[in-house]
Amino acid sequence: MTIEVARRAVIGGVGSALPKRRVDNAELAAQVDTTDEWIVERTGIRTRYIAGDGETTATLATEASRKALEQAGLEPGEIDLIVLATATPDQTFPSSATRVQAMLGVGDCIAFDVHAVCTGFLYALSVADAMLRAGNADTALVIGAETFSRILDWEDRTTCVLFGDGAGAVVLKAEEGTRGILATRLHADGRHSDMLYVDGGPSTTGTVGKLRMKGREVFRHAVVNLADVLTEVLGVAGLTADEVDWVVPHQANARIIDATARKLGLSSDRVVLTVDQHANTSAASVPLALDVAVKDGRIKQGDLVVLEAMGGGFTWGAAAVRF
Ligand code: UT7
Repeated sequence: MTIEVARRAVIGGVGSALPKRRVDNAELAAQVDTTDEWIVERTGIRTRYIAGDGETTATLATEASRKALEQAGLEPGEIDLIVLATATPDQTFPSSATRVQAMLGVGDCIAFDVHAVCTGFLYALSVADAMLRAGNADTALVIGAETFSRILDWEDRTTCVLFGDGAGAVVLKAEEGTRGILATRLHADGRHSDMLYVDGGPSTTGTVGKLRMKGREVFRHAVVNLADVLTEVLGVAGLTADEVDWVVPHQANARIIDATARKLGLSSDRVVLTVDQHANTSAASVPLALDVAVKDGRIKQGDLVVLEAMGGGFTWGAAAVRF
């Protein structure tokens, strides 16, 4: 279908960053009662990256942002807006977005964090898109960055094998044309907050807390919600699944990704899969996977790309982007 010319947020650059230390399943199997075989069969995960001393959500976010700015051909001082999605900020406040602003050397701009756990990047992208289209900013850095390793219970085999750390960033530029973010759709249902949560917080226990998850229930909701929101966002953009060049899904579990693609009749060779390398990096997972597929040449200018994620809350969302 024809997309009308309008002011849109175009992705001008993508970047990512991973901690130095890579941990494979065998290393975890030496610490908790698990096996490489179980993890690969149930999740598709083979390795994850774990932040070490001096590596934080904001340092990883800054490294990813530098690469995205370089690809976009922009200097830090040209950025008007920074939206950083994270559930694992460096501090309760100030926001990690303002830490990134300072580390990059961006001058006066708008900077804030959004918190929608694994759906955070889709929420951040949607907010930045709206602000660019409304004329509040002409350029934006949208970042997903996490250090979930710091909120895992390393004695709980049902969760500690599933997550990793990392960051991904995109530069958005407001342009008149047919490229850019075509549509976004966001959802939340707070009735399911006990299925995926952290058992602490500043206003309750005064501690950071550890991640807890009822994996099987989350799995069941994920497949339904993700298939629904993908169908919804394509409908809003006036597109069909046949027109999609690439799906960049949240990387929680290869089985969730396969089941969602099958529900929509999308062939798996159009789905970007990085969960094997990165595990679940929450808000970082979609921009990390996007960066992999842009850098290896799969995603090209003009491609129709759909992004989707689902996480704690529950929250879920999707975006359709003409690259
Ligand atoms: O990012 C936000 C969204 N998060 C997700 O989307 C995660 C969604 N959930 C999942 O990905 C999957 O449910 C899991 C990977 C978490 C679990 O896979 P499952 O196939 O649903 O397994 P299960 O929870 O039903 O557990 C099966 C068995 C259990 O043993 P019993 O009760 O059958 O004897 C578990 O105790 O596997 C056992 N188990 C493990 N065994 C070896 C659980 N974790 C492990 C482990 N190693 N690490």
